[in-house]
Amino acid sequence: MTAQLPAQIAGQPHESILIVDFGSQVTQLIARRVREAGVYSEIAPFNAADAAFDRLQPKGIILSGSPASVTEIGSPRVPQRFFEAGIPILGICYGQQTMCAQLGGSVTPSQDGREFGRAFIEIKGRSALFDGLWKEGEHHQVWMSHGDKVDALPPGFAPVAVSEGAPFAVTSDEKRRFYGVQFHPEVVHTPDGGKLIANFARHVCGLAGDWTMAEFRATKIAEIRKQVGDGRVICGLSGGVDSAVAAVLIHEAIGDQLTCVFVDHGLMRMGEADQVVSLFREHYGIKLVHVNVETLFLNGLKGVTDPEAKRKFIGKTFIEVFEDQARQVGGADFLAQGTLYPDVIESVSFTGGPSVTIKSHHNVGGLPERMNMKLVEPLRELFKDEVRLLGRELGLPEIFVGRHPFPGPGLAIRIPGEVTKERCDILRKADAVYLDEIRRAGLYDAIWQAFAVLLPVRSVGVMGDGRTYDYVCALRAVTSTDGMTADVYPFDSAFLGRVATRIVNEVAGINRVTYDLTSKPPGTIEWE
Ligand code: XMP
Repeated sequence: MTAQLPAQIAGQPHESILIVDFGSQVTQLIARRVREAGVYSEIAPFNAADAAFDRLQPKGIILSGSPASVTEIGSPRVPQRFFEAGIPILGICYGQQTMCAQLGGSVTPSQDGREFGRAFIEIKGRSALFDGLWKEGEHHQVWMSHGDKVDALPPGFAPVAVSEGAPFAVTSDEKRRFYGVQFHPEVVHTPDGGKLIANFARHVCGLAGDWTMAEFRATKIAEIRKQVGDGRVICGLSGGVDSAVAAVLIHEAIGDQLTCVFVDHGLMRMGEADQVVSLFREHYGIKLVHVNVETLFLNGLKGVTDPEAKRKFIGKTFIEVFEDQARQVGGADFLAQGTLYPDVIESVSFTGGPSVTIKSHHNVGGLPERMNMKLVEPLRELFKDEVRLLGRELGLPEIFVGRHPFPGPGLAIRIPGEVTKERCDILRKADAVYLDEIRRAGLYDAIWQAFAVLLPVRSVGVMGDGRTYDYVCALRAVTSTDGMTADVYPFDSAFLGRVATRIVNEVAGINRVTYDLTSKPPGTIEWE
């Protein structure tokens, strides 16, 4: 059974805004703010902006910030034709500076007017960008981070707000609908920044703000049908949100042409494997091959203690099992993956070299190349929270959609030292008690990730009249927005005491519980 699509939206491109990336650390936040306003947006590096413009036919353009300086020879520029397209443009920081420089103004490195951090701007004039938000004479908090500044405006531009360090904190050419802001509206430290970006998208560009997950779902289903035709698709399920949402969406599009393979490595949390099987097979009626390869994985992990060696073995074995299963179901034409937007965006680097590998997260990297299959990646344009919204739209249960991220190598990287069946079972029980208490306290959704770690040390305890000599369990809970940085979740001590008591009482093999107080950096979220 495949769903009927409303004809008027099937396969239609969205009204969109193109974000030209000059390498700022926070360009993704611009895309998020635009999407929060109900408008579809895509990011293109400055040197690929021309092609993105032709493909998207955007109704507005936003130029990002950059670590570069407009005053340096060879620094990046906006394709000049964008200024002649007759659509609104918002330049942020470097974006404002290059716009001004390219349209006949000038920019100087600022000796004394560098501004970093919180600043206040004063509104000096009217602008469509401020309509319904900021009025003349008002002061507003913004976040600045700039050395250079515009020192002469191009013809047609006027200053509409000033700050101590930037006489042109906001400039505009109301006729051409070009706006430049020296500050960063995309970061949360500019309290009205999201509203300002929404004003640009909705009011200035005149977009309806009707980009919804229902529309995305219908558009994607049409695209998947067109791409796949009567071909066959195979999809690996991990138990995580991304692959689950991708699979359900693809199934809605092409029904039984999809086969899912769930490589069950035995390193999942309590009850998780059963949930995957019953949800996909029984609830959605999706063809699912469940391969139980716990023994294969545990045998291979015998004696392995190095975290990267664990990851390598698990990634490699996963691919081998998956390939084998794909052959057994008679092959497929397409491989489906739950790739998300942050993995797709080409990062613009001004420093050259690759960044240091802290941990290799690409569990199944190389799978598409090895299997020589075309890819179906219906979530490529979405951020994680948007995937969750889509999951809800598709009727996936909350316990699945709202689930904390779980690493591909599973419990293996939460058991420092050797991974054994006994240790996995002990950890699964402790983790289940911890998560149960977190859910009961209503804290699950306030936490990015919470889990137990089983340490390879034993400590002495006393229970009843006897001496115990058992494992130590560490509890971890962090808040984060993207997993790149993280703060420790501040549980109260009564909560932690309750969890510790339950774990020691209910989980044979653990007699001591500690709470990990390390933020990231300097720690990482996982212990390995
Ligand atoms: P770290 O430990 O690097 O974790 O601070 C950041 C986020 O990534 C997850 N993580 C992994 N995910 N394969 C994955 O798919 C891995 O090997 C891996 N290692 C860490 C971690 O759970 C957190 O969400």
